[in-house]
Amino acid sequence: MTEDLSWIDVMDSNDLWIGEMVAVESVFGPLLMINIDGAVRAYENRCPHMGARLSDGEFANGVIVCPNHRWEFCAHSGRGINPAGKQLNPHRVRIVGGRILVASGQS
Ligand code: FES
Repeated sequence: MTEDLSWIDVMDSNDLWIGEMVAVESVFGPLLMINIDGAVRAYENRCPHMGARLSDGEFANGVIVCPNHRWEFCAHSGRGINPAGKQLNPHRVRIVGGRILVASGQS
């Protein structure tokens, strides 16, 4: 299967402040956009446990907490912290001219 590397403009970078996470809709489906100390990450906005919208949860100290059963994920990598061994579905991110672009797949 060929990876789709087309870049999609999803939002203005000024609308994603440091320490903030927001939900956006895209051709890739619902995305969770996060700004961790100036580094922007994009994940599928869906908990790998039972599919809750992670954007309805919490984000603090580099950790995303699912609103339903409190699973925790590293915002930098998407790796499960509690429980370990789980992984959020990441997307590639670029910032060009103040716009955040997303492509499918991991960087
Ligand atoms: S749906 Fe996220 S922890 Fe259960």
